[in-house]
Amino acid sequence: MTEPHAIEVEDLRKRFGEKVAVDGITFETRRGEVFGFLGPNGAGKSTTIKMLTTLLQPTSGKATILGHDLRTEGKKIRQRIGVVQQQDSFDQGLSTETSLDIYGLIWDVPKAERKRRIEEVIQRFEMEEFRKRMSLDLSTGQRRRLQVAREFIHDMDLLFLDEPTVGLDAIVRRNVLDFLKEKVKGGLTIFFTTHILDEAEYLCDRIAVINHGKIVQIDTPQNLKRRFGGTKAVEFKLLQGRSDAFVTKLGGFAEIAKISQDESGTYRATATRPELVIPEIYRLAEMFGLTISSIYIAETTLEDAFISMVTDGKDGGSG
Ligand SMILES: Nc1ncnc2c1ncn2[C@@H]1O[C@H](COP(=O)(O)OP(=O)(O)OP(=O)(O)O)[C@@H](O)[C@H]1O
Ligand SMILES: [Mg+2]
Repeated sequence: MTEPHAIEVEDLRKRFGEKVAVDGITFETRRGEVFGFLGPNGAGKSTTIKMLTTLLQPTSGKATILGHDLRTEGKKIRQRIGVVQQQDSFDQGLSTETSLDIYGLIWDVPKAERKRRIEEVIQRFEMEEFRKRMSLDLSTGQRRRLQVAREFIHDMDLLFLDEPTVGLDAIVRRNVLDFLKEKVKGGLTIFFTTHILDEAEYLCDRIAVINHGKIVQIDTPQNLKRRFGGTKAVEFKLLQGRSDAFVTKLGGFAEIAKISQDESGTYRATATRPELVIPEIYRLAEMFGLTISSIYIAETTLEDAFISMVTDGKDGGSG
């Protein structure tokens, strides 16, 4: 345990005039983990990334990045990290290939290694088709791919990604996420923001949720779902449409908290242990001479959990 954390942040703040964008956040990111940083628009995610990557000076607080002090060792930090900012940044007049090569040159990557890495990212980010095309002529998603791919031309221990998958189609997104996972297996630490909750769940070991500049929770995706995702439900349909007698009887089953039916005729039985509810539904259906035409367990999602964490306990629905 002599290795310092990849990121250690203590009471970090950023004020823009009257606006407090980041309001005293404290957390640490372990080496080799993917740390997700989730929050609504304007929560302070990008401001935090800008501070941690030395682009923006904190108003107060402390941070060390890979053991280096943010205030005094900015240069050392910059040498060991990669950053993909939220803003688009590219060299308009260069082709994909040249842009990657120049990036490698800036980072002093030897020629043979540059060549090898360029081919790797061209393949993994599916950029073959536009490798000779000028950045200016690329589509939004292609440009984003180039921007993320570029970081993998140089060596780094820690990578900051501010919404790296914006604009990527589902297939490329999955490839990029899998590529990131591979790099993490090889020792890379990733600090990652996204608004796509499924993606956060797929990639992140732990997630910090930030709202109004403050961290409201830090936990694994699994635990966040468990703690904030609410109850699960068994959703099913009867071939016969509806049966009030059946529902009344089923409603008496202790494992079920509530049963409702929507316009499409789907019944929804909320329960913390849906696996106990399913056999009961079949048992009663048989008793009433009814046929179940479809049935499944609706799991809570990270999105459910996220919404409940950032709505400050305000009740969004009628229940
Ligand atoms: N240079 C600035 N001057 C004034 N206010 C700023 C500045 N930069 C950011 N802010 C404000 O600080 C708050 C946090 O912004 P930030 O960009 O960090 O949010 P975010 O969590 O990244 O949001 P998004 O999901 O939309 O990217 C916002 O209210 C924003 O308007
Ligand atoms: Mg942002």
